[in-house]
Amino acid sequence: MPISCIGQTKANAKSGGTGDALRSGKASRRGTVLAQGLNKAARPVTELDGKVSGFATAGPYRPRPAYRHAVEDTVYVAPGCERRGLGRALVSALIDDCTALGYRRMVAVVGDSANLSSIRLHEKLGFSQAGRIPSVGFKFGRWIDIVILQRPLGQGDRTLPND
Ligand SMILES: CC(C)(COP(=O)(O)OP(=O)(O)OC[C@H]1O[C@@H](n2cnc3c(N)ncnc32)[C@H](O)[C@@H]1OP(=O)(O)O)[C@@H](O)C(=O)NCCC(=O)NCCS
Repeated sequence: MPISCIGQTKANAKSGGTGDALRSGKASRRGTVLAQGLNKAARPVTELDGKVSGFATAGPYRPRPAYRHAVEDTVYVAPGCERRGLGRALVSALIDDCTALGYRRMVAVVGDSANLSSIRLHEKLGFSQAGRIPSVGFKFGRWIDIVILQRPLGQGDRTLPND
């Protein structure tokens, strides 16, 4: 099955609502998030058999200057297109793009500790778990934990940045 990654990373774009779709897992909600992400010109975008099927974005980890070398990623795959390698292709492309742009660390904040697919996807791509904040969110009638994962990009912290 042909998978193609198109478009360029817009690393300075604010990521589109991490956690919006994580709790429900409902196809309709995921479709809405996909559309919103595309409206924000999220990159990269995957196509599966000629149809847009997912996107990934990277935005500033935090707006303060001290965090300027770190980005936070978001990835969504269209309902029905999971487990075909799209998430892996999207985040891999994002890692490559952000590394090329000089960023040193990528953070993933998975908005529900029950979201094993996202946690495992990130771990497969070299992320390690850096922490978990219990019951930091409340959505759809229940408390939500977040799991924080991170990985170095490029030289990571082995060298100092130029700025
Ligand atoms: C999380 C998400 C992006 C994964 O995308 P995907 O295209 O299904 O993932 P891939 O097919 O590329 O899978 C890559 C690896 O992730 C892991 N993985 C993916 N789905 C998994 C699941 N349901 N259970 C366990 N591991 C899973 C596996 O290790 C897999 O490798 P393998 O197939 O060789 O075993 C997708 O399920 C999604 O969009 N979910 C809803 C939105 C969301 O939660 N986004 C994350 C925000 S942080």
